[in-house]
Amino acid sequence: MTDKLVEKLRRERDLSDSELKELIESGAHDEALRQAADEVRRERYGDAVFLRGLIEFTSYCKNNCLYCGLRAGNRNAERYRLSKDEILACCAEGYALGYRTFVLQGGEDPYYTDDMICDIVREIRARYPDCAITLSIGEKPRESYERYFEAGANRYLLRHETADLIHYGQLHPADMSGENRKRCLRDLKEIGYQVGSGFMVGSPYQTTDNLIADLRFLQKLQPDMIGIGPYITHRDTPFKNEKNGSVELTLRMLSILRLMFPYALLPSTTALGTIDPHGRELGLQSGGNVVMPNLSPTGVREKYAIYDNKICTGEESAQCRRCLEMRIESAGYRAVTDRGDVRRDETGVKDDT
Ligand code: 5AD
Ligand code: SF4
Ligand code: FES
Repeated sequence: MTDKLVEKLRRERDLSDSELKELIESGAHDEALRQAADEVRRERYGDAVFLRGLIEFTSYCKNNCLYCGLRAGNRNAERYRLSKDEILACCAEGYALGYRTFVLQGGEDPYYTDDMICDIVREIRARYPDCAITLSIGEKPRESYERYFEAGANRYLLRHETADLIHYGQLHPADMSGENRKRCLRDLKEIGYQVGSGFMVGSPYQTTDNLIADLRFLQKLQPDMIGIGPYITHRDTPFKNEKNGSVELTLRMLSILRLMFPYALLPSTTALGTIDPHGRELGLQSGGNVVMPNLSPTGVREKYAIYDNKICTGEESAQCRRCLEMRIESAGYRAVTDRGDVRRDETGVKDDT
């Protein structure tokens, strides 16, 4: 049985708001969506799943996002910072495990000046010319983004979190603005980064219209990567009594994204693996083609607690590598250790990468 709505989305890569609403709110299209999303991902990327080594280098953050355990106002959070040498040691370990992308992620921590970030990026660039360097360190002035780029960073992850400005205001304190976040994303694109954006699924107060606004925003931005994951409650935040987002809706949104953005790099996220033991495998089968194994030193992993019960905190990097490879294979795909650049062209699978 073909599903007309799903086929239309696949063909036109777009639907009206009311058609999207039907797909998002009804579970009736889920099987057709998943199947179409997997076909489209295989046309473009084959069975490749790209690995990104994630280095969470600081748990300090000056911001106070209401949903996040690392928010400045959380006095119970344990804070740490990695030195340049510790970060380089993570890269060395990651390189040996086959990773060709390093993602430097952290809270917004003014301790790391632009000079320090550039120094770290330059050193990684010099040691690993064949690797992609991704930064995920939040909102900065355009000049800072330009400096990191000149130092050798190629990619930047900054989820827009929610495109609707009123909803943005419900998730963030008054000193943060959805407009500035969008400004950052446009600057990053103009400078020449491969840009990743994205949003949480099932965050407090989120409506279907908010999710449609997220899709519309992404259509304008045309990012290379789109990271989504379920919202998960953290016990020491103002949202401690809110409900988690669901696996079902997250998978549904992943499939919709694959059909709207066939070219995109879509991670099957740690958050998805946290709310369901097979969440990441299901994410891959629903259109995802990236996983981001943790490369942080084991001693600090538990402290990077953006939400409760985060997985992979007790494992060594090499254990995560093996574990993920098995999961990827059991889901029907193949872990690939190259840079995994975006494939915007329509020619599909050309080689055996
Ligand atoms: N649940 C799920 N995702 C979260 N993030 C932050 N806090 C939470 C939470 N409680 C996500 C945000 C941020 C990314 C690094 O982690 O989308 O951009
Ligand atoms: Fe800081 Fe990011 Fe957490 Fe917001 S989501 S408090 S910016 S680490
Ligand atoms: Fe980290 Fe399974 S991926 S332990």
